[in-house]
Amino acid sequence: MKSLRNDAPIGVFDSGVGGLSVLRAIRDELPAESLLYVADSGYAPYGDRDAGFIADRATKITELLLEYGVKTVVVACNTATVVAIEKLRSWCPVPVVAMEPAIKPAAQRTRSGVVGVLATSQTLASPSVARLCAAHGKNIEILLQPCPGLVEQVEKAELTSDTSRALLIRYISPLLEAGADTLVLGCTHYPFLNKLIREIAGPDVAIVDPATAVAKEVARRLGDQRVSSLRSSPAAARFISSAAADDASAIISALWGNSVIVHGIEQHRSNQVTAR
Ligand code: DGL
Repeated sequence: MKSLRNDAPIGVFDSGVGGLSVLRAIRDELPAESLLYVADSGYAPYGDRDAGFIADRATKITELLLEYGVKTVVVACNTATVVAIEKLRSWCPVPVVAMEPAIKPAAQRTRSGVVGVLATSQTLASPSVARLCAAHGKNIEILLQPCPGLVEQVEKAELTSDTSRALLIRYISPLLEAGADTLVLGCTHYPFLNKLIREIAGPDVAIVDPATAVAKEVARRLGDQRVSSLRSSPAAARFISSAAADDASAIISALWGNSVIVHGIEQHRSNQVTAR
């Protein structure tokens, strides 16, 4: 492992804008840390791509983050994690923190004994999810619900549109009818649909999003390695996207809740604009 600097940024990436839900949690947990986010929106969604393609994208983006001298890489994408995490960790010279659907906490929380997991087809078909279900699903029922189309809706910032609502009703209703009292958001795009999900699921269903747990894990890892930021004031977040920069700026600003300038992946070296 290479030696890390306290003032280096934390690098975070996703297939697109979904990982902003994790970035938000990291900013809240660690406001003094500089953040660098890469949205691979030009190639989203990953969920229907083959594993080799996803692993290749994860490698390229991690290399880009390392060029920026990041002290930790956060894979804010369940799909990239289940496909590529072992390979990434085998060569990456800085710590890699990753996501997995929060099946364990959901299994501990359910009272009805039925948990619904919303995620991409790739994630749900992975050995990692099979392992999680085997480990935590012994006395409960875990219903795996692929959600094609939802990532695309969030990529367009369509958080409350009729199409988004119709898709969510189609995916969530069968889970509720089967008695699910706990829903796992197993894709980092889905927390942006929380308003609709809550509306459809009703007030008594628990919605489990692991973003805060991931942020706390990042904090713990930085603390263990003594590379936490020494700043006393909030640090900046920077954004790069593989989609057209103008479109990406509009979408990321809408989801981040602040007007930000997003750089294209090609122009990233020449311009560095900060925003918070
Ligand atoms: N945010 C990604 C995840 O957590 C979405 C993957 C995709 O692009 O399909 O899985």
